[in-house]
Amino acid sequence: MDSRTVFCCKEHVVRQSRRHHGRHHRMNRLENVTVVVTGGGRGIGRAGAVAMAAEGAHVAVLDLDGDAAAEVVAQIEAAGGRARAWRTDITSPEQVGSAVAEVVEWSGAVDVLVHSAGIVAPAMLKDMTLESFERVVAVNLTGTFVCLQAVLPHWMETKRGKFIALTSPAALRGQVGGGNYAAAKAGVVALVKTAAVELARYGVTANALLPIAATEMSAKVREDPKLEEKFLSLIPLRRWATAEDIAPSLVYLASSDSDYMTGSVLSIDGGRTI
Ligand SMILES: NC(=O)c1ccc[n+]([C@@H]2O[C@H](COP(=O)([O-])OP(=O)(O)OC[C@H]3O[C@@H](n4cnc5c(N)ncnc54)[C@H](O)[C@@H]3O)[C@@H](O)[C@H]2O)c1
Repeated sequence: MDSRTVFCCKEHVVRQSRRHHGRHHRMNRLENVTVVVTGGGRGIGRAGAVAMAAEGAHVAVLDLDGDAAAEVVAQIEAAGGRARAWRTDITSPEQVGSAVAEVVEWSGAVDVLVHSAGIVAPAMLKDMTLESFERVVAVNLTGTFVCLQAVLPHWMETKRGKFIALTSPAALRGQVGGGNYAAAKAGVVALVKTAAVELARYGVTANALLPIAATEMSAKVREDPKLEEKFLSLIPLRRWATAEDIAPSLVYLASSDSDYMTGSVLSIDGGRTI
C-alpha cells in the first residue's frame, strides 16, 4: 500500500502518499532560495546541502576542501538539483567576500547562510598552546563573523536573510579537552543572539543549531570503545545521529516555516544538553 491514513479529527480523514514522507523526495520548500553552506563538503554541511537542494534550493558549497565541495555539487546535480562549489577558506575575508560576490552573480541572491565549517584540536587547558586556541577560535568563531559580515550588505539591501550557525553542546556545558572549541562555540551563540537583535530591523533572522552526529569530526570518540561508551552514557537517547538526521532541521531553519524564530538555539542532540 502506497498511502497512509492520517486522522485529523472525526470528520476529516486525510490520505497521504508515503512517497511524500521519503527523506530525499524532492519538494519545494526552498524553491528560488539561494543558500550558502560553508563546510558543505563534508558531514552535517554536506547532508544539509543535499537536503536543501532536494527542496529546490540553489546551493553554493564553500569548503577548504575543494574536491569534497565539487563532489557534493556532482551529487546534487545528479539528483536534478542546482549547486556550485567554491574552494574557500572561511577565515579569509577576501576569499569569503569574492565567493559571496560570485554566488550573487551566479544565482542573483544569497537568502540563507548556513555556517557549518568547523574544526577541533583537542588538548587539556594545561597543555593547550596559544596557537591551537587561536586557530580553533579563528575557524569556529571569527570565521562565523567573517561569513556573516560578507552577506550582511546584501541582506540589508534585500531586507531579508537567514543566518544559521552551528554551535555545540560544548558551548553550554564546556568540554574536557576542548576548551578552545567550547569557548569558540559559546561565542557563536552570543554572536547569533546579537545578530538576531541587531538585524531584525532588516528582516534578518539568526539562529544556532546544536547537533550531535557521527561524522569525521566525532570519529575519534567512536574509535575508542571506552570513550564512546562514556560519551553515549551522557546522551539520554544513548545513540548517535547521522548527519542526514540533522539535515531536516537545517531545511526547517532555512525555510519560511521558521520565519518567526530568531535568537534561538535548536538542539538536535539526543538530549545531551538537558
Ligand atoms: N559532529 C558533531 O557531533 C558536532 C557536534 C556539535 C557541533 N558540531 C558542529 O557542526 C559543524 C559541522 O560539523 P561536522 O561534524 O559536519 O564536521 P566535519 O569535520 O565532518 O566537517 C567540517 C567541514 O568544514 C570544513 N572546514 C574546516 N575548516 C574550514 C575552513 N577554514 N574553511 C572552509 N571550510 C572548512 C572541512 O573541510 C569539512 O568539510 C561544525 O561547526 C561543528 O563544530 C558538530
